[in-house]
Amino acid sequence: MEIQENISLKLFNTFGIDVTAKQFARFRSVDELHELLAYNQAQTANSKHQTLILGGGSNLLFTSNVDGLVLKNEIPGIREISEDAHHVYVQAGAGVNWHQFVLHCISKGWAGVENLSLIPGNVGASPMQNIGAYGVEIKDVFYSLEALHLPDNKIVHFSLNDCAFGYRESVFKRKYRNEFVITHVTFRLNRVPQFNTSYGAIEQELEKMGVKELSIQAVSQAVINIRSSKLPDPAEIGNAGSFFKNPEIPKQQFTTLQAQYPAIVGYNLSNGNVKLAAGWLIEQCGWKGYRKGDAGCHAKQALVLVNYGNATGKELFDLSTAILDSVKQKFGVQLEREVNIV
Ligand code: FAD
Ligand code: EPU
Repeated sequence: MEIQENISLKLFNTFGIDVTAKQFARFRSVDELHELLAYNQAQTANSKHQTLILGGGSNLLFTSNVDGLVLKNEIPGIREISEDAHHVYVQAGAGVNWHQFVLHCISKGWAGVENLSLIPGNVGASPMQNIGAYGVEIKDVFYSLEALHLPDNKIVHFSLNDCAFGYRESVFKRKYRNEFVITHVTFRLNRVPQFNTSYGAIEQELEKMGVKELSIQAVSQAVINIRSSKLPDPAEIGNAGSFFKNPEIPKQQFTTLQAQYPAIVGYNLSNGNVKLAAGWLIEQCGWKGYRKGDAGCHAKQALVLVNYGNATGKELFDLSTAILDSVKQKFGVQLEREVNIV
């Protein structure tokens, strides 16, 4: 067990924000996690001390130094735990890189996560906001998870229903925020693929690729191609993907907005509401390609805020506030941040 002091977190968040953690440690097993927590509790018995669980750092914005312990979850391993006529149950350690997990499933012929290719981050954070892309969310393949309850150091099992997954939501993001460390996630994957290619430009991309027979490999590659053409690579420009959620509004409000802005982009939901493309709203407010210092709004995808080098978390946060305000003022629609602000 090694605890480092005053460590820069610049390389541990995809925005590349240079803040420091008072203490920093990595763990590769539940036992190591127990050991670190016991040490931390003994050290800080009478003081209020922040503990932050870190995965790949791809959905975080650091706005200040972390005055506490950052624990980087590196629990490894992917194993098939059981199977039935239609499904394979696969458990992955929280520290497994998400895209590596997807590639592993594809290589084994296990279907269900191919549309979620190339999402940054680790398996352990995937239930936090019920990651989603191209018509699939992890709730569609999720079976269960194990998490350590920080207040009493006990492992708790969560089923699909326990997690209360919604669009970019779960109990871990709201009710149990900062209470659990997810250690393992089990997925229920399909032996026979149920292809989902109706979303966005997947079919167009498959055609462009010259794909004659659909396969999970082909769908994965199509998603990779589309994502690579739109989203900035954090290795080149700091970002955390979509900074805001796509807002949901009542149909009546949408009809009124549409009368004024005929090009507004919205999708009908089964509950009668309409989900708006926040990227379109932000672009219409003139933010796309905006840059002040090193903080900016991406030139190809207005929903993504970027750090061109040395932006601070506060500068990016202030930019997000200005965007929220202008969208509210122009369209009367309240955006909500998707990224976790620390
Ligand atoms: P981190 O950023 O490290 O953590 C996120 C939050 O979860 C923090 O609050 C952290 O404390 C908590 N946390 C992390 N691990 C654990 C754990 N084991 N137990 C308890 N709490 C934990 N997301 C999508 O849904 N769809 C997309 O298409 C998508 N595209 C993206 C594209 C780009 C270029 C980028 C940079 C991000 C994108 N994201 C997308 C967001 C991000 O990839 C996901 O939210 C991802 O799941 C974050 O994983 P992480 O390991 O990096 O989490
Ligand atoms: N649009 C614009 N201008 C922009 C960006 C988008 O007008 O600058 C409009 C376009 O009409 C486009 C529509 O918005 O057709 C939707 O854009 P896109 O297909 O790029 O998807 P998105 O709604 O912006 C969402 C997710 C992404 C996910 C993609 C694909 C959210 C908040 N974002 O983006 O998730 O990868 O769909 O499924 O739901 C993330 O969560 O970090 C993320 C990247």
